[in-house]
Amino acid sequence: MNVIDVNASVSYPVVVGGCLLKDTGEYIRRFVPAAVKAAVITDDTVDGLYGDTVRESVRRAGLDVCTFVLPHGEASKNGENYLRILSFLAAEHITRSDAIAALGGGVAGDIAGFAAATYLRGIGIVQIPTTLLAQVDSSVGGKTAIDLPEGKNLAGAFYQPALVLCDTGTLDTLPEEVFIDGCAEAIKYGILGDEKLFEHLKEKGPGFDREYVISRCIESKRDLVMQDEFDRGRRRLLNLGHTTAHAAEKLSDYSLSHGRAVAMGIASVARAAAADGTCSADCAARIVDALRRFGLPDRFGYPFGDMYRVMLCDKKIRGNVISLVVPEEIGRCVIRKCTLEEMKSFFSPAFR
Ligand SMILES: NC(=O)c1ccc[n+]([C@@H]2O[C@H](COP(=O)([O-])OP(=O)(O)OC[C@H]3O[C@@H](n4cnc5c(N)ncnc54)[C@H](O)[C@@H]3O)[C@@H](O)[C@H]2O)c1
Ligand SMILES: [Zn+2]
Repeated sequence: MNVIDVNASVSYPVVVGGCLLKDTGEYIRRFVPAAVKAAVITDDTVDGLYGDTVRESVRRAGLDVCTFVLPHGEASKNGENYLRILSFLAAEHITRSDAIAALGGGVAGDIAGFAAATYLRGIGIVQIPTTLLAQVDSSVGGKTAIDLPEGKNLAGAFYQPALVLCDTGTLDTLPEEVFIDGCAEAIKYGILGDEKLFEHLKEKGPGFDREYVISRCIESKRDLVMQDEFDRGRRRLLNLGHTTAHAAEKLSDYSLSHGRAVAMGIASVARAAAADGTCSADCAARIVDALRRFGLPDRFGYPFGDMYRVMLCDKKIRGNVISLVVPEEIGRCVIRKCTLEEMKSFFSPAFR
C-alpha cells in the first residue's frame, strides 16, 4: 500500500493498494469524521461488481448508506442526471457534514464531484476510482464536470476530494479495451516527467506493476496540480497529445475512445517534434514503440485538414494562439505557444 499526499488548496491523501474497498467505511470515518451517512454514486456495472462491498463496509463502520445508480457510459454525465443526484441527496437528507462516495470510472467521479461541489455549496467527497484512467488521472486534482449538449465538460468546478481510494484489485474486472485506454495516459506521464516509469511500461507492457505505475502517475499529477491547481500554467502539460486527440474524437462522433485518440495524439506530436528537431528521431521512435507495446494505435485515420478545422473550435485556443505540449526527450516536455498557422506547419510532417 502506498499513500500519496496532495497539498493543494485542500490537503488529502491518495491511497493506492490492492484490497481497499472493504475498508471504505473506516476511511470515510477518518477523513470525513462528522459524517453519519454516505451517499454512494456509481454506475450500474460497477454497482453490480463492487456496490455491496462498499455498502457493507460503510455500514460496518456505523454509517448509514444510500446509493444513486447511473446507467454506465459517458451519456450519463449530463445536466439531467446531475440535477437528479442533487434531488436524491436532498430526499435522503444528506447534510453538509455527510459524505459522498464516488465509486466508478471518470464518469461517476466527474458527475459526483460536481454534485459534491455544489450540493449545499459543497460537501465532502471520497473518490473511489475503478478504471485505470480514473485512478491515474480523473480522481486526483479536483476537476469535476458534466457535459452539455454543446460539448464535453462544459460545466464544472475545481473541487478537491477529502480522500482518494485507488483499489488496484478493481482493475481485474475492467474490460481489456478500457484498461488499455488508461495505459495511454500512463505512458503520457512517463514522457512528461519520468523516464524510469516510461521504460517500465515499455518493457512490461500491460502486465506492468500496478501499484508502482499508478503511484508514479498520481505523484506526477500531484506535482503539477500543486504547482498550478487552477490550470493556468504547468498543469497544462497534462494535455500532451490531447489537442489532436480531442479533434479526432469529435470527428469520429466519439466512436474513437479517448485513450486511443490520446495515443495517436502523442505519436503525432512526437513525430512532428522529431521533424522540427525539438526531440531526436530516436525519442519519437521509442514513444511509438511504447504505444505499440500496448496495442495502441499511433496514426490518425483523418487528413490533417479535417482535424485542423475541428481544432479551430478547441476551447484552449486564446485568440489566434494555442499552447502545444511538445516532447524534448523522454521525461521532459515543454509548453509551446504558437499561432494556428505555426501549429499547422508543425503538425503537417506527422501526417504524411
Ligand atoms: N476530472 C478529470 O480531471 C478528468 C480527467 C480525465 C478524464 N475525465 C473524464 O473521465 C471520463 C472517462 O472515464 P472512464 O474512462 O473511467 O469512463 P467510465 O467511467 O465511463 O468507465 C468506463 C466503463 O468501465 C466500466 N467500469 C468501471 N470500472 C469498472 C471495473 N472495475 N470493472 C468493470 N467495469 C468497470 C464502467 O461501467 C464504464 O462502462 C470522461 O467523462 C472524461 O471527461 C476527467
Ligand atoms: Zn486524457
